[in-house]
Amino acid sequence: MFVSQRTISKFLAVACGLLSLLTLFSLRLLSSPCKCLNEKAKDRDSATVSTNINGHSRSEEHVDRRYTPFIFVGGFPRSGTTLMRAMLDAHPDIRCGQETRVIPKILLNIPKIFNLFSEKEKNRREEAGVTEDLLDSAVAALIGEIIAKHGEPAPRLCNKDPLTFRNLSYLARIFPKSKFIFMVRDGRAVVNSIIERKIVIRGVNNHRPEILLRTWNEAIREMNAQCEKLGQARCLRIPYEHLVLFPKESMKIVLEFVDVTWNNAVIHHETKIGKPGGVILSSLEKSTDQVKEAINLNALYKWSDRLSPSLLEYTDRIAPAMKILGYDTWKKWPDYRRMESIVTKYNKYL
Ligand code: A3P
Repeated sequence: MFVSQRTISKFLAVACGLLSLLTLFSLRLLSSPCKCLNEKAKDRDSATVSTNINGHSRSEEHVDRRYTPFIFVGGFPRSGTTLMRAMLDAHPDIRCGQETRVIPKILLNIPKIFNLFSEKEKNRREEAGVTEDLLDSAVAALIGEIIAKHGEPAPRLCNKDPLTFRNLSYLARIFPKSKFIFMVRDGRAVVNSIIERKIVIRGVNNHRPEILLRTWNEAIREMNAQCEKLGQARCLRIPYEHLVLFPKESMKIVLEFVDVTWNNAVIHHETKIGKPGGVILSSLEKSTDQVKEAINLNALYKWSDRLSPSLLEYTDRIAPAMKILGYDTWKKWPDYRRMESIVTKYNKYL
C-alpha cells in the first residue's frame, strides 16, 4: 500500500501532540495534590480550634460535626444542670464551661428560618445545591465553634445551656455522635426555686406557681419525648434528687454513658473550682453560689413547706409529667430514694 510522505508527517505530528498532552496531564496529576470530593466535604464541615484564651496555648483540634462526640447537659432551668456540668468539668478530660446563652437562641430561631421555605422554594434551594445536609453543616459549624472556642480546649467538649433540650432532636441530628444528659427534678421543687430565687426565663411567668407548674409540665413533656425517641444510647435521664443522694453511683453511670474513664474528682467538684483544667464558674449565673459548695441535700425538700396546699393537692392534674418521670405526687415528703430511675435500677447496692 502506498503511503505518501505528507501523510506520514501529518500522522507523526498528531501523535507527538497527543503524547505531549498526555505527559502534561500526568505531570499535573502528580504535582498538585488532588482533593477528592470526600476530603472537600470534610474540610467544609471542619472548624479549626485555634483560640488563645487567658494566655493558654493554641489548639489545632478539629471540630467535625459528624465525628465530634459533644456532651450536652440540659433540662428545665433549676434542675441541677449547673451542678452536673460542674461535676463533669471537674474531670480532667471534660470541659463544659459557663452557659453560652446564645446556643438555645440559635437553635430556636435558625430552624424556623429554614422552615419558612415553601415547597417551591425548597425545590429551588435544593436545585441550587443548598441541601438540608449543607444547612445542617452550616448550623453545626456555628454552634461547634462557639462550644469549642468559648473555653479551654479539652479531649471532650461539653455544653450546658439548659433550654437547648427544647430542640434536642435537631441537635442530635446535626451532631450525630453527641450524647445528652437530661437533668430532671421534682416540678414542685423547680417551681419553688424559680419563685424564691426570682429566676427570669424568657416567656415564662415566674410568680404564679400554678402557671409555672403547667409551663414546666409542657416543656418537660416535650424534652422527655425527644429524649426517649433518641433512645438510651444517646440520651440519659438523671433525676437531680438521685444525683445528690447517690453522687458516686450517678456519676459512674454518667461517665460510662459518655465513654470517659472514672475519676474521683467528679464527686468533689468543689475542690477543682478555679484550678487549671478544673471548674470555671460564672460570676453572673444564679446557681454559682450554690454550686461552689460540695454536693449537699439542702434543696431536696425546700418546696414542701413553701407551696400552697391546693397546688400540692392538684399537682398530678396540673402536671402529669411528674408521674411520667416517676415522681410521687401525693406525698408532701416523697421518698426520693425509692423512686425509679436509671440510677436506682442499675445500682444493686441501693
Ligand atoms: P434550689 O434553687 O432549689 O436551691 P440549675 O443549675 O439547673 O439552675 O439548678 C439549680 C439547683 O441546683 C438549685 O436548687 C441548687 O440548690 C442546686 N444545686 C446547685 N449546687 C448544688 C450542690 N452543690 N449540691 C446540691 N444541690 C445543688
